[in-house]
Amino acid sequence: MLRAPREELADDARQGLISTPKHLPPKHLYDARGSELFEVITQLPEYPVTRAETAILEDAADAIVAAAQPDELLELGSGSSRKTRLLLEAMHRQGTGDRYAPLDVSVAAVEQAAAELAVDHPWLEVRGAIGDFSRDLGKVPRDGRRLVAFLGSTIGNLLPPARAELLTAIADSMAPEDRFLLGVDLVKPRDVLEAAYDDAAGVTAAFTTNLLVILNRELAGDLPVDAFVHRARWDAEAEHVELTLEATREVHARLERLDLDVHFAAGEHLLVEHSCKFRVPGIRAELAAAGLEVEQVHGGDTHGFALLLARRTGGADR
Ligand code: SAH
Ligand code: AVI
Repeated sequence: MLRAPREELADDARQGLISTPKHLPPKHLYDARGSELFEVITQLPEYPVTRAETAILEDAADAIVAAAQPDELLELGSGSSRKTRLLLEAMHRQGTGDRYAPLDVSVAAVEQAAAELAVDHPWLEVRGAIGDFSRDLGKVPRDGRRLVAFLGSTIGNLLPPARAELLTAIADSMAPEDRFLLGVDLVKPRDVLEAAYDDAAGVTAAFTTNLLVILNRELAGDLPVDAFVHRARWDAEAEHVELTLEATREVHARLERLDLDVHFAAGEHLLVEHSCKFRVPGIRAELAAAGLEVEQVHGGDTHGFALLLARRTGGADR
């Protein structure tokens, strides 16, 4: 399903490291070490996203499954699948279906999640798939009525145009009886957001800096990791956190596999991720524009996070 990840990284690096500003798509953050560091991030006191969504799912999983009646759960960017267990267990309890299709770019994350689920949930049929949700959605075989879950506010790592494209592709992939469950982190004060993405223990810094290690390993590079510092800045107008690696001095490096010389001026940033934050009316409008009508909203401002359950509309808004 997947193009060799290294080949894709090569194309993205070739393009992104000679652009202004320099940038790489966030999916390249998730090698085995990146997936492991993300799991540590989810436990950090400053990072509220996972705790908030778990608390909402603990209350709402039964109502979501009762409305969706899924034969199978397809999850985009499934990671460790830990929170998903709440949905899978509700499906099992209600006897709707016991099939789970996690789709993720991280081979390590899918393999580990599948192995853990096999031990703890032996009744579950897991069909893991490695791929890019922006490209490979249509390639996951469907088997009955589907609940498509996109949790963790991973949608926020896409900027509005890519988001609109993905939401439309999701709506187009759905049968009228299918449902789409979307988790979005809501706008919060600057100090809360900047701490969430630049924690005191330095785990998020290790997560973004690992991208330089990945570039060096995969593309035979010599980027000096110690010449870069992690930065997280809330852009209040765009309503996103921008995560960058800033060169603290001038850097001349080479990516041998690409036959590419890379130059950073002192103070130049490599953009590694946007994390957009949402307001419920705004995301409702984005879903409507993609042909998705919201049926249930769980959480909200008091939780700092919202879960929206949607169905396909006839297309009046599209
Ligand atoms: N859903 C989990 C994990 C979120 S971390 C949670 O809520 O905790 C984001 C996950 O999405 C990672 O596992 C990463 O490997 C995956 N991911 C990022 N970009 C992706 C893409 N374009 N296609 C598929 N998976 C992607
Ligand atoms: C996966 N995604 C929703 C995380 C986020 O909050 O944007 C990725 C992350 N990056 C740094 N910390 C967490």
